[in-house]
Amino acid sequence: MKRLGVLLSGRGSNFEAIAQNIRVGVLEAEIAVVISNRPDAPGLEIARQLGLKAVALSSKGVGREDFDQQVAAILDEHKVDLVVLAGYMRLLSGAFVRRYPLRIVNIHPSLLPAFPGLDAQHQAFDYGVKVAGCTAHFVDEHLDSGPIILQSAVPVLEADTAESLSARILVEEHHIYTEAIRLVLSGRWNLEGRRVVMQTDVN
Ligand code: GAR
Repeated sequence: MKRLGVLLSGRGSNFEAIAQNIRVGVLEAEIAVVISNRPDAPGLEIARQLGLKAVALSSKGVGREDFDQQVAAILDEHKVDLVVLAGYMRLLSGAFVRRYPLRIVNIHPSLLPAFPGLDAQHQAFDYGVKVAGCTAHFVDEHLDSGPIILQSAVPVLEADTAESLSARILVEEHHIYTEAIRLVLSGRWNLEGRRVVMQTDVN
């Protein structure tokens, strides 16, 4: 069984959706550890309630490389196969990313490469796009820039506010993130340049 290490900073709804999909058998994997750089993250409490290993590791005042090394030590101790960022609001050091090549995934609430960074849904709404969405992608050394695994488009409706749009995007996040993790863990893909290309059956 492949082992996931989840990193989060807040609410934890993407993590909870993944945990739920594992529970009902949609995703074959196990969550080995959940780590938050914010000790008060609601996502940590959800992890505890689910009986999962939950580690609070405050990043306050700790240098990026030092902190990431502490996180990596915990991930390695739990023999994690895939690092799953789920609302992890902290930039990763180059050393951390290089330690887990093509083994870190992220969910971002925009159709990348549009609107990287913070508050992507608000950025998209304020820009006036007619189609928004979300992206599951591998993590490389730059912000929200690694190879794309899956995307889902969400139309912007006339009556939308940034909040109502964010809520509809979140529903899609919960769907595609599990599916992206499933695809990655299947190993049935190749990286061709930046393109994640799924292998097709030959027989
Ligand atoms: C999600 O919308 C996720 O896409 C976003 O933070 C939210 C976390 O919610 N991540 C980023 O913006 C990363 N750049 P959650 O804690 O309920 O999963």
